[in-house]
Order: sequence, then C-alpha cells, then structure tokens
Amino acid sequence: MSVTSPADYTEKIPNNVSLHEDRRLQRALESWQPDFLDWWQTMGPSLPTQDVYLRTAVNVGREGWAQFGHVPMLDYRWGIFLAEQDPDRRVGFGQHKGEPAWQKVPGEYRADLLRLIVIQGDTEPASVEQQRNLGATAPSLYDLRNLFQVNVEEGRHLWAMVYLLHAYFGREGREEAAELLRRNSGSSDAPRILGAFNEETPDWLSFYMFTYFTDRDGKYQLGTLKESAFDPLSRTCEFMLKEEAHHMMVGTTGVDRVVERTAQVMIENDTDDVAALGAIPLPVIQKYLNFHYSVSLDLFGGETSTNVANYYTAGLKGRWSEDRRPDDHRLTDDSIMVDALIDGEIGELEVAALTGLNTDLRRQYINDCRGGVNRWNKILADGGLPQRLKLPHIAFNRRVGAFAGIEVTPDGQQLTAAEW
Ligand SMILES: [Fe+2]
Ligand SMILES: [Fe+2]
Repeated sequence: MSVTSPADYTEKIPNNVSLHEDRRLQRALESWQPDFLDWWQTMGPSLPTQDVYLRTAVNVGREGWAQFGHVPMLDYRWGIFLAEQDPDRRVGFGQHKGEPAWQKVPGEYRADLLRLIVIQGDTEPASVEQQRNLGATAPSLYDLRNLFQVNVEEGRHLWAMVYLLHAYFGREGREEAAELLRRNSGSSDAPRILGAFNEETPDWLSFYMFTYFTDRDGKYQLGTLKESAFDPLSRTCEFMLKEEAHHMMVGTTGVDRVVERTAQVMIENDTDDVAALGAIPLPVIQKYLNFHYSVSLDLFGGETSTNVANYYTAGLKGRWSEDRRPDDHRLTDDSIMVDALIDGEIGELEVAALTGLNTDLRRQYINDCRGGVNRWNKILADGGLPQRLKLPHIAFNRRVGAFAGIEVTPDGQQLTAAEW
C-alpha cells in the first residue's frame, strides 16, 4: 500500500492512507465523522467563521515537508494524513533495537499503546474547547485566522489519533474514540485527562502563552511517539509535528507583540504603570508566564516512572532526538540525577536512567522554553529597559511530581501553606 499519494479530497474523509481499500475501517470512521462534526459545532469556535481562509494539507511529500493549499474555513475538511513510510525503518531503542518497525500492534503491548494514544488524543480536542470563545475578542483578523488554524489542526490531530484507534484497536479503539468526544475541558463529571487541559484560556495573552508553553509540551510528547516502534503511530506523529510548529510560532510571536507594545508604552511614558495606557504591565505578563509554564511542566508527569521505563524498553515511546543521543539506546546501565524533595528540601537524587526518562524529557523542554524568554528579554533590552522576564523555579506551582506537596515562590523559596 503506497502512502506517497496526494490527499484525496473527493472522498468523504480526505486521506493519504488508501482508506477506500478497507471498507470496514472506512465505514467505522464515516460513522464517527458526524459525531465529530456535532462536537465541532457545539464545542468548536463560537464565532462565525466566514471570510476566514485556512491552510489545509494537500501532500505530505517526498521532500519530508508538508505542502498546503488554502480553503475557506467553512470548506475545511478534516482528514487523515500520515508521513511517508520508510519500508526499511527499524526500531531505534530498547530491547527490540535493530528489529524491523512494527506495522501491527503486538498483543503484549496493545494495552500500553492504546493508553498512550488515548492520552495524546485527549489533549487535541481539549485545547479547541478551551479556546472556543476567543474569536469574539480577537485583536485582529490575522490573529483570528491563526486561532482558527490552530483549532482546525487540533481537530485534525484528534482525527489522526482516532484513525489509529479505529484501524488498530478494534472495538476497544472505537469505544475510546467515542470517549474522546464525550470528555470535555473543565467538565465536572467527564473532564479531560490532564490538568493543564482543564484550565481556562479566557484571553489572548493566555492563548499566546498556551500555544508557546503547552503546545510545546505537545511537541515533546509527539517527538517521543515519533520514535515509536509502532510505525503507524510514528508516521502519524511526524506529520502532526509539522503542524505543531505553526502553533508554537503563533505563541512566540503573539507574546513578542505583547512585550513590544508594553516596552513601547513604558518608554514613551517613562513609567512601569502601563495598564491605564492600554498595555499589559510586565509583572502581569510574568504571572501569565509563571502559570502556563508551571502547569505545562506538570504534563511531563512524575520525575521517575516505571511505566515510562517499560514503554522505553518495549520500544513504544523513545526520547527526544533519540537518534542523536550518543549512548547505547538501551540505557540499562546508565543513571540520571532527578529533581527530588530530600528531607523536605529541594534537591536532586540519582536514579536509573530508564526510570528518570520523564525528567530527561522535561529538561529538553525547559531548555527550549528559555529560547522564548531570551527573545522577549531582547525586546526589553533593545528598548533600553532594565526589567527582564524569567522562567519561574521548577518547584513553583507544581501539582504533579516531587514538588506537588510544597509551596515555593517563583524564585524558589519554600513557603509554609499559610504564607502561600
Ligand atoms: Fe495537536
Ligand atoms: Fe498544537
């Protein structure tokens, strides 16, 4: 089955996976489609979307980069697009390293793979729900277009995960696909699985911070799944990552513009107190940053995890840039220092590298986040301003992992519950 063909938009579900060759799968997905469209109607953008043009995938291409065409929002069609298959691909890590990549789900890993796909799938529609009302307060048509673009692509990422569920996990997969539309962000009886995806995105600075910090978590999670020995999951995530880059660009440049405006008003009026002058004060921007960064750190899970160690050993989920790591890609003899609470104090603890993989991924993410902060600080420095933004301490506002039980200031000072 060739997957190098351009997306076929004459089909009910546009795809590059030759869906018409598998009638059962096609019927199953076509029966999920109206439920998805219902969900989009009730939980998707609340603002009418006419006159907004969006990019849509037309080819995932041999050059390894997506080609996009443009359609009006109302004609946007969600489809199933996987990156090209490499017939010689081999497992890159863990106990199956060097064996051919899997085209089917091995029975022994079925439950774990299902869980990983469901957790990833659950985040995609959640952000659409969180951003539902932002259209009403869009600062410009440019921003509105970016918002809808991000929203339709998160909807498509849901399709990507639902395709895997339907194609490879039988009835259980179809049930999980239905559940992905039943849970809703912030719902009291059926919330989304992960905390950050139940938080509100009430305004545009939240949206920019979310797309900078929380979509970036998505980038790192997809990066680990792209390494998966289960080839259809790997190819799905590879294509999702191309779309994800745009979401983060929306966040980066959105915060750029907020900081630029703040700096400009501060300089023109020679004051830090810019709220009454129509700009967002730097301490407020810092608070937004603190919040979105800390809830995104929680998305990486506990500092140590035997589940994640097992996923790695089994070949289900690799590391960020697995093939560029200068080690044996099995990690059975290695160790890592992880963040820990030692006798009530913030410190570090040595553990087996496999157990500390969440920490490894979180650190890659943190380094990446520094890039944005440096960029925003350069705007302040170029304006001649002495103030700087910064990432809060890793223990600040954490609800998951070693620091969940303590309260810490953004500077890393421990507080009593009463002081907090
Ligand atoms: Fe996504
Ligand atoms: Fe995204």
